Amino acid sequence: TIMAVGKSAQDETWSGKAAFVLAAIGSAVGIGNLVRFPYVAGDSGGGAFVLIYLLAVFAIGLPVLMAELFIGRRGGGTPIAAIQRLAKADGASGSWTLMGWIGMFASFGIVTFYSVIAGWLLYYAYVMVGDIAGNIGANGIAGIASPAFAGEDADGITGRFGALLSSPGKMILFHGIFITISTFIVTRGVKGGIEKAATWLMPIFFFLLVALSVISLIIGDAGAALGFLFAPDFGKLAADIKDGSVLINAVGQAFFSLSLGSALMLTYGIYLGRDTSIPNAATTVAFADTGVALIAGLAVFPVVFAFGLEPAGGLGLIFGPLLLAFNQMPFGALFGLAFFIMAVFAALTSAISLFEVPAAWAKGDNTLDEATRGRRRVIGSVIIGILIFVIGVFHALSQVPTDAADTFFNSWEPFGSLPVIGERTLLDAIDGLTGNVLLPLGGFLVAVFAGYVVTQSASREELGFKSVSNYQRWRFLIRYVCPVVVGAILVYGIGIAPF
Ligand code: PHE
Repeated sequence: TIMAVGKSAQDETWSGKAAFVLAAIGSAVGIGNLVRFPYVAGDSGGGAFVLIYLLAVFAIGLPVLMAELFIGRRGGGTPIAAIQRLAKADGASGSWTLMGWIGMFASFGIVTFYSVIAGWLLYYAYVMVGDIAGNIGANGIAGIASPAFAGEDADGITGRFGALLSSPGKMILFHGIFITISTFIVTRGVKGGIEKAATWLMPIFFFLLVALSVISLIIGDAGAALGFLFAPDFGKLAADIKDGSVLINAVGQAFFSLSLGSALMLTYGIYLGRDTSIPNAATTVAFADTGVALIAGLAVFPVVFAFGLEPAGGLGLIFGPLLLAFNQMPFGALFGLAFFIMAVFAALTSAISLFEVPAAWAKGDNTLDEATRGRRRVIGSVIIGILIFVIGVFHALSQVPTDAADTFFNSWEPFGSLPVIGERTLLDAIDGLTGNVLLPLGGFLVAVFAGYVVTQSASREELGFKSVSNYQRWRFLIRYVCPVVVGAILVYGIGIAPF
């Protein structure tokens, strides 16, 4: 049947294959690659983790990525409408739409804290601009060669992160700026907003990333970093596999980094044209995302080792001690500014994708009627943006450190006496709930739906593999490997979730 496609619906599609691939890479590449990958790899001991991570990306992440894209494209509408339509076509229960709701809830939960962390990055970029301006003011143009925070002592510099966490006003301001920019982009629609942002920001991002890693390899300890990332310690690997934690961290990181299990790629698949090959596009996205994570490792670890910092530094690795490294190198302020601008760009293209999932529902009327898609784009996006801002304020307030570490909102007076969930901040609680439970659950359901509910002829046609054996390989992974491995992780994840 030929559907009448309205003007607004036309704006709600990708302009072509290249644009889609860039936007999907923009979603995948973000805080997960620049901050989370180095610290998860650092915590898990480096090389052995990297090896298992590669396996997790290509044996589990990639098949699920293809599944999400084809479910979205074949279903159309919104994530929920898409699932409803496919379930109906294949005589399955309508309760499969729960999968869409879970994904939407996960995306919304993630973007509420993602924006706060992006706000920290934006704040640091702003601080670096101030520092550079000060240096130029003091020493003329030669000041541009100054390290960051010249003359400040080490305690003062590493203490800057704690000071930021003690300043709810600053956190809320920068979170507010970030979410306002994101809201503006999302109201512009898929083609005029998300796609345009990705095509402008991603090339600048790649340029800065490669430049920074080259500089870092030159001025830092390249040997130690390469050894740490690429020389697996097989003795440690065997022990870790027995313990299971490396596997769980690797699959969890692969899901987060590839934006899976959150109905995100499903939503992006909805806007995908028939002429785009899903296996090719998905493979490009997986390679680009993994490449960026590894290059980000090459930007961070040489500096970490050269300045004697701990690789297992957690979030603090980026936000605390790395500032110290920028303090110890020529052109450090400039180097730091480039790093944080790059990180903000990457975070922005991911945040708008997360934002788009609930916004697609809010703006798209959740009907199967293509003609009305995007009708409430502006108002729907603005309402979602306001909700993200408000919940983000709670995240920011829940960071404020006090002596009384056992309260949920820490020093925030009106809620100061609420009990903490297992000593976590609100941010950690939602990060744990989404990362350890909702994303794996979403991925598990996608695998079962694509492998068992959707008919074989439908998935074969939609994926359009050029060779039969490639299709059969995909089908084997999605029916057996993904559900078993992800199911196991889910059981473990629920065990360590904050409730
Ligand atoms: N993939 C993004 C990152 O690595 C985060 C993300 C998760 C985006 C889930 C969309 C959906 O930063």
